Amino acid sequence: MVRYMVTSALPYANGPIHAGHLAGAYLPADVFVRYLRLRGEEVLFICGTDEHGTPITFRALKEGRSPREIVDEFHEHIKTTFERAKISFDYFGRTELPVHYRVSQEFFLKALENGHLVKKVSKQAYCEHDRMFLPDRYVIGTCPYCGAENQRGDQCEVCGRPLTPEILINPRCNICGNPITFRDSAHYYIRLKDFEERLRRWVEKQPWKPNVKNTVLSWIREGLEDRAMTRDLDWGVPVPLDDEDVKGKVLYVWFEAPIGYVSMTVEHLKREGRENDWKKFWLNLDGETRVIHFIGKDNIPFHAIFWPIFLMAYGKYRDGEVEAEWNLPHDIPANEYLNLEGRKFSTSRNWAIWVHEFLDAFPADYLRYYLTAIMPETRDSDFSFADFKVKINEELVNNLGNFVHRALTFVNRYFDGIVPERGELNDLDREAFEEIEKAFAEVGELITGYRFKDALKRVMELAIFGNRYFDHQKPWKTAKTDRVRTATTVNVSLQIVKALGILLEPFLPDASEKIWHLLNLEELKRWKFEELPAGHRVRRATPMFRKVTDEDIIHFILRYMARENTEGARLLLDKYYKREEVVKVALERFGNEDEARAILKSLYGEEIPDKTEKKKGRKEAKNMDYVSFDEFAKIELKVGRIVEVKDHPNADRLYVVKVDLGGEVRQLVAGLKKYYSRDELLNKTVVIVANLEPKKLRGVESQGMLLAADDGKNVALLTPDREVELGAKVR
Ligand code: 2FM
Ligand code: ZN
Repeated sequence: MVRYMVTSALPYANGPIHAGHLAGAYLPADVFVRYLRLRGEEVLFICGTDEHGTPITFRALKEGRSPREIVDEFHEHIKTTFERAKISFDYFGRTELPVHYRVSQEFFLKALENGHLVKKVSKQAYCEHDRMFLPDRYVIGTCPYCGAENQRGDQCEVCGRPLTPEILINPRCNICGNPITFRDSAHYYIRLKDFEERLRRWVEKQPWKPNVKNTVLSWIREGLEDRAMTRDLDWGVPVPLDDEDVKGKVLYVWFEAPIGYVSMTVEHLKREGRENDWKKFWLNLDGETRVIHFIGKDNIPFHAIFWPIFLMAYGKYRDGEVEAEWNLPHDIPANEYLNLEGRKFSTSRNWAIWVHEFLDAFPADYLRYYLTAIMPETRDSDFSFADFKVKINEELVNNLGNFVHRALTFVNRYFDGIVPERGELNDLDREAFEEIEKAFAEVGELITGYRFKDALKRVMELAIFGNRYFDHQKPWKTAKTDRVRTATTVNVSLQIVKALGILLEPFLPDASEKIWHLLNLEELKRWKFEELPAGHRVRRATPMFRKVTDEDIIHFILRYMARENTEGARLLLDKYYKREEVVKVALERFGNEDEARAILKSLYGEEIPDKTEKKKGRKEAKNMDYVSFDEFAKIELKVGRIVEVKDHPNADRLYVVKVDLGGEVRQLVAGLKKYYSRDELLNKTVVIVANLEPKKLRGVESQGMLLAADDGKNVALLTPDREVELGAKVR
C-alpha cells in the first residue's frame, strides 16, 4: 500500500513566517496531508527549523546576539505560528537536534567514501577589516547571471540562482561595506558531474510541474560544476574529519538542511517508540513510499538537483537487517511567489503580512481561505486587502455561512432540531445527492493534482448549489402547505451541510469543526459521504463567520504595518481610505488614545485635532427634543428574518422584502439596493418597526420598516448579536 512522506521546506530560524511563506510551502502541504488522512492513507508530515548557515549567523552578528539565542527564539516563535495557522505537522523539529548532526555527518562521510567529495584549496572571500572569511550572505554584490545589484552571496533574489561570494561582481563585505580580498582555504567539493546523466534520465521521466522540471533540465544542459559542501563558519554541523585543513569548519547549510527531513523523521518515530519505522519512509524497501517536498520556487535547485544528488552520493544504506537505496523525491510541487498589493514581499522593509500578526486580527480560516483562493500555483499572485475583504464576505460569509445557517435554522424552526424523514425525492433532490458525490470525487482529484485553488473553488460550488437548492425548494413557503416536502428539503439541505463539513476539513479545519459541532456529530471524519440519519438531533443555528469590515483592515494596517513601515502603511491607507476614516478607527479601536495619536502623527506628519467628533455629538444631544418613555413604549420593535427579496417593480432603488416574524410574514419596502445585494439580505436577522402604519410606496404596500444605521455614507442593518426567537421584542 502506498505511503506518503510529506515535507515542507524547513524555514530558517532567523525571523517570523509571512503569508508568502505560508502560501508557498506550508498551506498547500497541509491541505494535501489533511486530505490524505481523511482518506485513511498512511502519511507522515514533517517539518522543522533550519538553524544553521549564514542566514542565522549574519542576523546574530547584526544584533549582537549569539546564533543560539536567535534559533531558540525563532524555533519557538515559528512553531507556535504554524500551530495557530492550523498547519498539522506530525512533527516539527530542528536541525540543532543531536540526531541531525549524526545523520548529516554520516551522509558526508558516505559521499566521501564513495569518491564523490574532493578536497580543493581555492580562493575564498575574506575581509581584511573584519579579519574573517566571508561565506555566503557575508558578501553582497551584483549577480553574474541576471545583473541584479546588491545580491547576497548565497542566492540571487531576482533570478533565483544559487550564488557563491567568489562569483559576485563588485563584491563587498556585508558587515563593513569594504571591498573584499581573497585568501586560500580548503573545502570539500561535491562532484555534481558524477550524477549528471543519472539525474537527467530520472528527471525527464517525472511528471512534475514545468517550473521544477525545466529548472533541472536547463541546469544540466549548462553543465553542473563542483560545489563546496563545507564552510568557514563556526556555527553549524562540524565537518566530521580529523583533517587539519578543515578544522573548525562546518557543513554547508544546504548540504545538511534537506537531510533534516530524514533526521527529524528518525527523531519523531523514535519518540513514538517506532525506532525502525523511518526506514520504510526513506529507504526504497518496497517501492511504495512517495516522498513529496512542498517548497517555494527559490528552493527548486536545492531540492530538485542537489538533494537527489546527495541521496545518490550516499549509495546504498546498509545495516544488519536492510540494504536499500534512498527514496528519491516522488514530487516537488513548488509554488511561485506571493506579492503584497502589487509589490514583492520584503522582510527588511516590513512590506509583509506576518502570519502571527494577521492571526491576532483575523481567524485562521480567513487566512487559509484567502491564501488558498489566491495560491501562486502556476504564477505569482497578489495579496490585496480589498480582495481579501470581498472574498471573505461574499464567498465565505454570504455563500457558505449563509447556507449552513439557513439549513440549521429551518430544522430548528420547523422540526425542533431533529433531522426529519425524507418523503419522495424530486429531480432537484436527486441532483443534490449527485452533486455531493461529484464534489467528493472532483475535489479529491484536484487535491492530488496539487490544484488547491481549484479544489477549494469546487467545494464552494457545492455551497452555491446548496443555496440554489434551498431557494428553489422554498421551504418557507412549503412549510405552510406541505410538511413532507419541507421535511425532504430540510433533510437534503442538512446532507449537503454534512458533506461540506468533510470537504472543508483540508482547507478550513475550524469551519469544518464548527459544522460538526452544529450537526452534533462525534464520528471521525472520512472522505466518504455517509448520510445524516433521520431522527438525529442537531444544535441550534449560530453564525459560522463574521464579516471583515473596513475598520478591521484599517486597524490591522495601523497596528501592525505602520509601526515599522510608515511609508508603506500610508500608501496602503491612501489607496483605500479617507483620512477621516483612518483617524476615527485609530481613536476608537486603539484602546490607548496617546498611542493612536502617535501613530497617526507618524503617518500623516501632523497632529490630529482634539475629539472634534465627540464634542459635536455632545452638543447635539443637549439641543435634542426628548420623547417620554410612554411615547417610546408605543413603538413596537421586533426581530425577524428576511426570507424573500425581490426588486420593486416600479423603483430602481427599492427592494420588496418579506420578513418572517415567527408567527407571521410581513412585506416591507426598503431602500437598500445601493447598500446590499439580494444574497446579502436573504436570511439576515433584522429589527423592524412592527406597528408602523402600512403605507403604499410606489404602488407596493409596506407593512413596517427595517431599522438601519446611516452615517450619510453607508447604511448598515441592525441585527441582534446572538440568536433569539423570531418575533422577539426589542426594548
Ligand atoms: O529557504 C529557506 O528558508 C531554507 N531554509 C529552506 C530549507 S529547505 C530544506 F532543504 F531544508
Ligand atoms: Zn541573479
